[in-house]
Amino acid sequence: MDARVARPAVLGHEMSGRILRTGPGVTDWQPGDTVTVMPLRWDDTCPACHAGHRHICHNLDFIGIDSPGAMQQRWTVPASTLVRLPATLPLDQAALVEPTAVAVHDVGRAGVREGEKVVVVGGGPVGVLIALVAGSTGADVRVVELSAHRRKLAEDLGLTTWDPAAVDVPVLVQEWTGGAGADVAFEVSGAAAGVETAVEVLRVRGRLCLVAIHPRPRQMNLHRFFWRELTLVSARLYDRTDFETAVGLVAEGTIPAQRLISKVVPMTEAASAFTALEDGGDVMKILVDCGDDTQEAHA
Ligand SMILES: NC(=O)c1ccc[n+]([C@@H]2O[C@H](COP(=O)([O-])OP(=O)(O)OC[C@H]3O[C@@H](n4cnc5c(N)ncnc54)[C@H](O)[C@@H]3O)[C@@H](O)[C@H]2O)c1
Repeated sequence: MDARVARPAVLGHEMSGRILRTGPGVTDWQPGDTVTVMPLRWDDTCPACHAGHRHICHNLDFIGIDSPGAMQQRWTVPASTLVRLPATLPLDQAALVEPTAVAVHDVGRAGVREGEKVVVVGGGPVGVLIALVAGSTGADVRVVELSAHRRKLAEDLGLTTWDPAAVDVPVLVQEWTGGAGADVAFEVSGAAAGVETAVEVLRVRGRLCLVAIHPRPRQMNLHRFFWRELTLVSARLYDRTDFETAVGLVAEGTIPAQRLISKVVPMTEAASAFTALEDGGDVMKILVDCGDDTQEAHA
């Protein structure tokens, strides 16, 4: 999405914070309330909005990408984007509600059902959250991830992982499923090899859910799609219900958000956080503390 970000820009769409002030006419919110923000503004006039799909509005303003985001001490947002947090939920953990909402949406789009066998290709933050949400619905999940650090973290959270550089994933899936193949595969790696794996592991009439934002067109084995009558479904962002479900999952501990937070850095060190993530270091989520007090605001 780099091309959409004008420079200079204030980034940030995964956040939590506390209300400082409200504008005229805002009655539902009080200073001090803890909130997260569903960072979407739609036009309510385009065909997607008319069809009820406002989160994929043709003219969507994804706040933090298309307009100034959360990585600042004070952020002004429309009251309609606010999502209430339980008072008991620590703000650092609440910063993971947004990516959890992505995972809730993805699992819903794929129609994952109890007892289904699910392969998540790519065990970064989004992939791990999808695996946890799918697992919470009663699915049997395997995570395919290249990074040893991320595999270890996922295993520590109770997930079973495979290293695609060390094992033949489609063969393991055959053994795991008695030769049938997986019911659902999530492509969350953003890599060409990940797409290949996700297609290869599916059973007849299996569903491939595309979550990753691929930076360029990818080749896909359409013969396999034909032969196995596969379904491709894509999943983008979330709607309000996904967000509210995500608040509940984080608050009740189904998503152990604290364990996905590798570290918290002050805003002055935000650049080092981006570098660590880009370099594929031993990190999952890094929070940027944008407030005067570390409890006040995270992005
Ligand atoms: N659909 C949406 O609305 C939505 C929302 C958020 C993020 N995303 C996208 O989802 C993707 C994942 O997000 P993230 O934050 O977890 O990203 P990430 O880059 O941190 O994670 C991707 C993971 O895939 C792994 N990987 C790379 N190639 C692989 C392969 N061949 N097999 C297995 N694993 C492989 C990497 O080691 C990495 O851990 C990104 O493309 C992101 O842009 C989409």
